[in-house]
Amino acid sequence: MNYNINQDIQEIVKRLKNENISFEDKKVLVTGGAGFLGSWVCDVLIEQGAYCICLDNLSSGRPENVLHLMEKDNFRFINHDISYPIYFGMSYHPLGICIGDIKKIDIVMHMASRASPFEFKEELINRKKEISNLPSFSSNRDS
Ligand SMILES: NC(=O)c1ccc[n+]([C@@H]2O[C@H](COP(=O)([O-])OP(=O)(O)OC[C@H]3O[C@@H](n4cnc5c(N)ncnc54)[C@H](O)[C@@H]3O)[C@@H](O)[C@H]2O)c1
Repeated sequence: MNYNINQDIQEIVKRLKNENISFEDKKVLVTGGAGFLGSWVCDVLIEQGAYCICLDNLSSGRPENVLHLMEKDNFRFINHDISYPIYFGMSYHPLGICIGDIKKIDIVMHMASRASPFEFKEELINRKKEISNLPSFSSNRDS
């Protein structure tokens, strides 16, 4: 028997509808959207008519998980590490990247994280080292 992912997506959409759960016309930010769970969420949101912003640094996620959504008008992919700042609706901010044209987000679904407890711990330690190596804001201003 051939497995068809679309049948599963349709079934999820049908069940959500039965429960009166709709994301239609909502702007939804899915962090970790290129991962296993996140990409399913993106598929369902697109099918329901939401505007889906998939944010992922592709550290364990795969672009192929969302490649089929790239051409959709209601899908946007942002390659970014969510542990660093990101500012929506702003054209400039000194502390992070800006996505000026997205002014409002209705819902955030946060799935950006290493699923494996071992990788999670390792990632946390590396990030702490990175942060402790950052030049302090005041020393930057003095130079
Ligand atoms: N898969 C499961 O059965 C399951 C069950 C319970 C809970 N969870 C939790 O759900 C979450 C997602 O799990 P998954 O199985 O989809 O894992 P996954 O690794 O497939 O997805 C995680 C996604 O987050 C991205 N990511 C990781 N760190 C990031 C960062 N700093 N910035 C931006 N993107 C980042 C990865 O690239 C990946 O695409 C995890 O927190 C996991 O612990 C998963």
